[in-house]
Amino acid sequence: MAANENIPQHVAVIMDGNGRWARKRALPRHAGHRSGVGAVRKTVELAAQRGVQYLTLFAFSSENWSRPREEVSMLMALFIEALQREVDELHRNNVRLEFIGAREQLQPRLVDMIVAAEKQTIDNTGLRLLIAVAYGGRWDIVQAVRKLYGELARDEITADEIDDTAIAHRLQLGDLPDPDLLIRTGGEQRISNFLLWNLAYAELWFCDTLWPDFGEQQFDAALEFYAMRQRRYGHTGDQIEALGS
Ligand code: IPE
Ligand code: IPE
Ligand code: MG
Repeated sequence: MAANENIPQHVAVIMDGNGRWARKRALPRHAGHRSGVGAVRKTVELAAQRGVQYLTLFAFSSENWSRPREEVSMLMALFIEALQREVDELHRNNVRLEFIGAREQLQPRLVDMIVAAEKQTIDNTGLRLLIAVAYGGRWDIVQAVRKLYGELARDEITADEIDDTAIAHRLQLGDLPDPDLLIRTGGEQRISNFLLWNLAYAELWFCDTLWPDFGEQQFDAALEFYAMRQRRYGHTGDQIEALGS
């Protein structure tokens, strides 16, 4: 990267293509998922080095529960193994680790590890790493609506107080800034029920690289793409230039 300017504050990633990576090598799908953990490690390091403040990784969607049972249990075992192996290192690197998603759907052992990892790293001041597991954008909106409904029923909030901020506050990302840049590997150009609300104004970057092969070259290409964008939020280009000058 030429200059350390115009770096996205929050990067979200749909890590896709593990299965195809394995298939190309005549390996079972789980070999692709295992290899994907290495790309996660690399991406976390790169994000921290480049000055990204929040990194949100889509690891397992609400819809991924529909995959063959063996693949789902293998993925859950891999999450447990990766947490066992990686959390101390993340902690040493001042990374704060958090999880978003329907954790009540996860095995108690995995939930205990998630809670422990969040607790261990809560005071870290470096990169904030959010892992989306059992996460779906529609589920996220539903759980926010349920929270609001409960608060309304208990007279803790009035209907007039429900606005963008009130809804965002009750979503999984809470008051964190929206992702500025969404990266999706694996060639598909879709959102697949990721952060539906929060991606409203994200810049979208897609690549054909399969997730286990993702690295510095692709990450920097995405950052360069981002640095070239003019974010207008509905304004005209002239208005934005006037603001900048
Ligand atoms: C992404 O890779 C990882 C998860 C969804 C858990 P895939 O497993 O979707 O890989 P492809 O898309 O089948 O290649
Ligand atoms: C999106 O990938 C979910 C994750 C990367 C965790 P999928 O492979 O599940 O998406 P679709 O099914 O191709 O849309
Ligand atoms: Mg896929």
